[in-house]
Amino acid sequence: MALINKAIFPVAGLGTRFLPATKAQPKEMLPVVDKPLIQYAVEEAYAAGIRQMIFVNGRNKRAIPDHFDTAFELETELEAAGKKELLALVHSIKPDDMECIYIRQPKALGLGHAVLCAQCVVVNEPFAVLLADDLMVGKPPVLKQMVDQFSEWQASILAVQEVPAEHTKRYGIVAGSAISDRLMDLTHMVEKPNPEDAPSRLGVAGRYILTPGVFREIATQPRGVGGEIQLTDGIAALMRREKVFAFRYDGKRYDCGSKEGFLQANVELALDHPQLGASFREYLKSLEI
Ligand code: UTP
Repeated sequence: MALINKAIFPVAGLGTRFLPATKAQPKEMLPVVDKPLIQYAVEEAYAAGIRQMIFVNGRNKRAIPDHFDTAFELETELEAAGKKELLALVHSIKPDDMECIYIRQPKALGLGHAVLCAQCVVVNEPFAVLLADDLMVGKPPVLKQMVDQFSEWQASILAVQEVPAEHTKRYGIVAGSAISDRLMDLTHMVEKPNPEDAPSRLGVAGRYILTPGVFREIATQPRGVGGEIQLTDGIAALMRREKVFAFRYDGKRYDCGSKEGFLQANVELALDHPQLGASFREYLKSLEI
């Protein structure tokens, strides 16, 4: 069995920054070019060797389980029409050796609370958390880079990137001592600080590998910023008991929870798309902007 076999996908947020698109569907179902955000994240976890995908769902819960479920009607039609390539595409969404588990977060009480909802499935093993609205592009995929680090250090690892000073208020910001160019041994972490209070410019991106000790820490934290149960607070408490590392991944992150990041992802991934790339590039050039 792989070192990390379980991934939690918290998909129960309200997605208010993306209204009205998220009124009746989770933002994780918004497509970038031709695939929903959640599928990019699941593929990234699969590429890192993970086979149990745990979705923490909220309201508008149907779209994500439906996406990873068998679609009998569609498959029968494609089969009857002899559309083998499309049928294979539909089947590839959920490989046979991948298991999907759904848990309900009854109220959007925060990311920490969403992760805690999955404790009954994870129990006592290290696990990954992927926020699908952070679309990551890396070679190897970012979570695979992190699993490789985990195999060396056997401790919690947070993906981080350098962020502009004026953006520290959007991130959990970490501080600690450098072990190498890419790895830092963390001493503390603050959720969404003002630039003048930020201990560094390294912001946490939506990929985590965590040890199960974090569940107890999340459960005992008081409500944090915005009255929510914050994952950052649980991880900051874990640091007092266990080593926690920050890892500067090699890759690019698109913040698809924001309209600007979502549009950037669509443009850049369309330019890279094997079928669409060339003609889309010509189209953009023709705009003469
Ligand atoms: P965000 O901070 O982006 O919040 O959540 P949000 O509610 O989804 O979006 P906005 O800010 O209102 O536009 C980060 C991740 O945590 C999940 C979200 O689905 C997203 O993947 N989340 C957040 C939950 O699953 N439950 C929560 O209670 C809060």
